[in-house]
Amino acid sequence: MTILVTGARGHVARSLVQQLLAADPEVKVRAAGRVPEAVRLPVGVELVRADLAEPATLGPALTGAAKVFLYAEQRGLRGFVTEAQAAGVAHIVLLSAAGADPASEDAITRAHGEAEQTVARSGIPWTFLRPGGFATNRLLWADTVRTHGVVHEAFPDSHSSLIHEADIAAVALHALTEPGHHGKAHTLTGPESLTGRRHVELLAEAIGRPLRIEPQSLDDYRRALSRWPPEIVEARIRRIAALVDRPAPVTDTVREVTGHPARSFATWAADHTADFGRSAA
Ligand SMILES: NC(=O)c1ccc[n+]([C@@H]2O[C@H](COP(=O)([O-])OP(=O)(O)OC[C@H]3O[C@@H](n4cnc5c(N)ncnc54)[C@H](OP(=O)(O)O)[C@@H]3O)[C@@H](O)[C@H]2O)c1
Repeated sequence: MTILVTGARGHVARSLVQQLLAADPEVKVRAAGRVPEAVRLPVGVELVRADLAEPATLGPALTGAAKVFLYAEQRGLRGFVTEAQAAGVAHIVLLSAAGADPASEDAITRAHGEAEQTVARSGIPWTFLRPGGFATNRLLWADTVRTHGVVHEAFPDSHSSLIHEADIAAVALHALTEPGHHGKAHTLTGPESLTGRRHVELLAEAIGRPLRIEPQSLDDYRRALSRWPPEIVEARIRRIAALVDRPAPVTDTVREVTGHPARSFATWAADHTADFGRSAA
């Protein structure tokens, strides 16, 4: 069986490729990325170029694929599911977002709700993964942590229950390789609600260096997020502001699906010391 994993440079996709290889040597893993030359993959993984915004790249990527792990890139999703139908794909596991709802006023949950609708309407059996905030969002801090031991943060007292990319990938692995996940939407979080301030403390422990927080203006925060469209950035700011001094929701779904508890933020920090510059001492 061939499983196509889209978004090959993405954190979740990279973890999923590794977990699929480790779980079942019989499964053939094909990774699809927009820029294959920028992708580093383990030996044995087929690499194809696919961009949802370029329909001509999708047919070849899907040929022979029985199942797909799909990033919810809006542009081109319709074309993707049409090609997936033609290729006889039997299951799509879609990386969506917590609260996905096509009627939502929040631009992030609306976009993901629309993506879910597109996949559901294809008639191809589906599973939706609905994570809350990714721990990888904290990579925004990496440059200034490495260079100055400083975190610029606009909302240090905002809570989040950030999830490790390996846990999202682990749930995807179970959904792709076990029965019982068709038609299910799994809402996924990390194991605990913590403030940004606590994340900084845990990161400092992991890298073995003290860190200090410097206030960040909203404009600077917007600039730091400028790779996303403005309406997504504003939705994210509203959400983060709403969780200042208020615990974020936590689910137990990672444990329920995979049998192991969701990884802590301390574990994520320990797994990412190279990104933040571990102390030489
Ligand atoms: N960050 C969060 O807190 C969070 C929370 C819930 C849900 N999500 C959702 O999870 C997804 C990824 O989040 P991220 O940005 O944090 O992850 P990321 O690790 O930066 O990955 C982004 C991925 O999207 C893929 N992609 C983008 N445009 C594409 C296109 N036109 N065709 C094919 N693939 C495309 C990229 O593929 P290439 O390898 O080809 O570049 C890349 O792998 C997004 O849909 C996001 O809304 C994020």
